[in-house]
Amino acid sequence: MIPDKAPGEDVLHASGDLKKGAHVPSFEKYKELYVKSIESPEEFWGDFAKDFFWKTKYTGKFLDYNFDVTKGAIYVKCMEGALTNICYNVLDRNVHDRKLGDKVAFYWEGNEPGDEKTVTYRELLQRVCKFANVLKSQGVKKGDRVSIYMPMVVELVEAMLACARIGAVHSIVFAGFSSESLCERIMDSRCSLLITADGFYRGDKLINLKLIADEALEKCRDKSFPVEKCIMLKHLTKEDESTVHGSLSPPAKRACSDLQVPWNPEVDMCWHSLVCGVSEECEPVWCDSEDPLFILYTSGSTGKPKGVLHTVSGYMLYTAATFKMVFDYHPDDVYWCTADIGWITGHSYITYGPLANGATSVLFEGLPTYPDVSRMWEIVDKYHVSKFYTAPTAIRLLMKFGSEPVQKYKRDSLKILGTVGEPINPEAWQWYYNVVGEKRCPVVDTFWQTETGGHVMTPLPAATPMKPGSATFPFFGVVPAILNESGEELDGPSEGYLVFKQPWPGVMRTVYGNHQRFETTYFKKFPGYYVTGDGCRRDKDGYYWITGRIDDMLNVSGHLLSTAEVESALVEHEAVAEAAVVGRPHLVKGESLYCFVTLNDGISYNQKLEAELKKQVRVKIGAIATPDFIQNAPGLPKTRSGKIMRRVLRKIACNERDLGDVSTLADSSVIDQLFENRCCTGV
Ligand code: PRX
Repeated sequence: MIPDKAPGEDVLHASGDLKKGAHVPSFEKYKELYVKSIESPEEFWGDFAKDFFWKTKYTGKFLDYNFDVTKGAIYVKCMEGALTNICYNVLDRNVHDRKLGDKVAFYWEGNEPGDEKTVTYRELLQRVCKFANVLKSQGVKKGDRVSIYMPMVVELVEAMLACARIGAVHSIVFAGFSSESLCERIMDSRCSLLITADGFYRGDKLINLKLIADEALEKCRDKSFPVEKCIMLKHLTKEDESTVHGSLSPPAKRACSDLQVPWNPEVDMCWHSLVCGVSEECEPVWCDSEDPLFILYTSGSTGKPKGVLHTVSGYMLYTAATFKMVFDYHPDDVYWCTADIGWITGHSYITYGPLANGATSVLFEGLPTYPDVSRMWEIVDKYHVSKFYTAPTAIRLLMKFGSEPVQKYKRDSLKILGTVGEPINPEAWQWYYNVVGEKRCPVVDTFWQTETGGHVMTPLPAATPMKPGSATFPFFGVVPAILNESGEELDGPSEGYLVFKQPWPGVMRTVYGNHQRFETTYFKKFPGYYVTGDGCRRDKDGYYWITGRIDDMLNVSGHLLSTAEVESALVEHEAVAEAAVVGRPHLVKGESLYCFVTLNDGISYNQKLEAELKKQVRVKIGAIATPDFIQNAPGLPKTRSGKIMRRVLRKIACNERDLGDVSTLADSSVIDQLFENRCCTGV
């Protein structure tokens, strides 16, 4: 499956310098370790597990599982029976056993240049313990779910680790989501407490976070799910209190007279007052390997988000191992992942993976374009970042401004570049490699998902010859296959469904509260395999190329959205009878939302309605889901059985006249009308 020898032609190789001292210095070494990871998983993962602290050893098999729905319920268990604590392993172990107390865990860089703060491992441990004690005093116990809705501040990491310390399950909701989305996630996970902040700036835009959080709690109340506890961090509010009680993120330098902080004394509590005077010691709660660690919601094709559940030990081992190998982590590195902790990338590669390795990271609150398009490179130079991880959408955005804003800064500290979130087009890859990395830094194109917990298909920087746009080969323990529509495994060069044949420690365990949905979504279509939902091509050299989603999902700026989710937001508007949403290629975002709406009788389409519909989606889901195009569609192309032919709509959105086979279309007259009504004529 993996070629015996890496191809020598048409590929880019890491420099000799990088190979020296690399964890995996050659393709041969990668092959050897890969075989070990498959044939002797216990031994392979045992090499990583021995670095961690285990209160008791595991009792059964290292990895126990059933991946075949025809043989019974799907399950995956890793090191079941062992007791440990992930917070202890990423903090106490580093401070006490590895003597890294004075090492910087995070350089926090605020939205506004000059807003900065450094936190060491020792300080982080003390702060986490304090906050864990606060949670305990609020009655939070092992197994309880806690929702976190916060900007990119160190306290967000504190809140998640404090939950992990006491065995509570965190459910972080990206701070760009709407109150409706937050409410839905709080209710689905049955959270008893919400942690939020007063507000924050994204570029020069003020986000009144507490206001949105309050709206969400109000909606929960209306739906008979009252959450009576809300802890609010004062991030923007300039008050003596925050200095007295030691807010880690200093108040932003911008004036914030527009900040709205509603306060309900029955429910709301101030973070700073709560931690004041609380002990800096908190005994961790020892958890079973298979106890839940967190829930993170990801879009589902039915429109209802799925609560992806990860458990303690497998996730800990996997994020630690992938971080170490894929970024070839060494103790003197300064690592920066630009993702938001509200997404899985931030969970695995800002918090757990880097901290498990005792790494120093940059934690950035701002935007790549604020105050100008050099911001990223300024930060790279400021902190001497050596490993840099970002999304193709950010690369494409910055590429538009040419090389000059990049070259204003030296970037000579950079050693490895990474991408994640969507397929990277070779042009963007080349720009990243040539301009940002000056042909010196390998690019690791890491393919993975919220569900996979960590990287599953990825180059290893010193070992894997790179092909721009290919996620190359599987990570250790991962066995990919490409299936055709009939579920047959394809050999050699081929294209089809990307699936995995067996679990790895970091794979999700269930959909929270709905195991059946877990089985149906990932295991039913092809029994015996985990189905990613992505298409994939394998070339003549055995390299894997992810071709994008093949289900009803869209990837807008690296964020997954389901067409059903957007459609249901649109049809909630009283003017809309039916909606169909498709992706349209976009130069920066990868894909943009193109929505077709059929209006109720008697309603005419106009700009005001269009603006209302866009707002409707933004309010229901969040700004990331704002449609780029809305088209009035008096009729939609449907099969005789009534199924909307999205394939045809995708072509119409792109103004492609060759529609392929349309013999199943019930009424072909709608097609001309749809082309006539296109809302972006000429594009
Ligand atoms: O379609 C794939 C795409 O992002 C999806 C997973 O999205 P999410 O769960 O939000 O996690 C994103 C961060 C891990 C995948 O099913 N995707 C992610 N990385 C890549 C990618 N597509 C191609 N190449 C990648 N490197």
